[in-house]
Amino acid sequence: MSNKPKVLVARAIFPDLLAKLEESFEVRSNQADQVFTPEELQKELSSVDGALVTGSERIDASALAHAKNLKIAANISVGYNNFDVPVMTAAGVMASNTPDVLTDSTADFGFALVMATARRITESERWIRDGQWDKWSIVSNPLGMDLHHSTLGIIGMGRIGQGIAKRAFGFGMNVIYHNRSRLPEADEKACAAKYVSKEELLRTADHVILVLPYTADSHHTIGAKEIALMKPTATLVNIARGGIVDDVALAQALKEKKIFAAGLDVFEGEPKVHPELLKLSNVVLAPHIASGTEKTRRAMVNLAVENLRAALAGKKPPSLINAEAFKG
Ligand code: DGY
Repeated sequence: MSNKPKVLVARAIFPDLLAKLEESFEVRSNQADQVFTPEELQKELSSVDGALVTGSERIDASALAHAKNLKIAANISVGYNNFDVPVMTAAGVMASNTPDVLTDSTADFGFALVMATARRITESERWIRDGQWDKWSIVSNPLGMDLHHSTLGIIGMGRIGQGIAKRAFGFGMNVIYHNRSRLPEADEKACAAKYVSKEELLRTADHVILVLPYTADSHHTIGAKEIALMKPTATLVNIARGGIVDDVALAQALKEKKIFAAGLDVFEGEPKVHPELLKLSNVVLAPHIASGTEKTRRAMVNLAVENLRAALAGKKPPSLINAEAFKG
């Protein structure tokens, strides 16, 4: 029997990174990539010292019920709304995430989704594939909304929000933002962004993008009431988390053309998508891929592995969330 620490890799990772992990640990891996049921996850965690997990694995009291040796759950994700952090801390389980390494890829994608939504790129492609393009027309080909010199409203001004603001500067956009706390003046200056209330942002922005973490407080940050404040010509993009937008209210608003269009990378209850959203042409849909370049996904796995290795060597993981759980 090996005396290497036991590690669970809860979802498929790049085979070369898995092979490297297997040099140091006894690894139980899920290369089949079927998401564990809560019961399966509980069982898997009961026999390991550390785990690499993703947003699909909820680490709560039930998951930890028999995890007597678990020292760390290392998320391969910057968001960690799948962690019940107080429960993990009480159980002495370290929680870590993967900040920074995905900031630029995610900001690129957020900006791309704003563009695709405003300029009706995916709808235009479907239109051509459906054989509807019979002539160039000044008025009847899909016409969009401008980005240049329009106002971009960013809700959630962490690293990714700031990255999006910097990209918007290149397009001559006027950037306003709302955040739980206002940024220091130097950071506001660096991204040429002005702090406003959420109401003012919704009323004045031509394009709204959501980049805030999902918490009990941010649940349904955007619902029917908030959409009613937006301009009928405005677009709404969500690259944050499902649940931040009330998808039922959004589908209804898009159907009634209360706003121009929406771009969604995340959904309530994903991978399920609200059936009404699937029917609408004024919504761009993406399968939670904002961080999805191979280079960035590798960097995320590598950082999660670094966190795991540190914890299992008795060292402080570089992106530890619950410092109280570290007994160094
Ligand atoms: C993240 O890192 O939070 C991405 O949304 C993937 O879960």
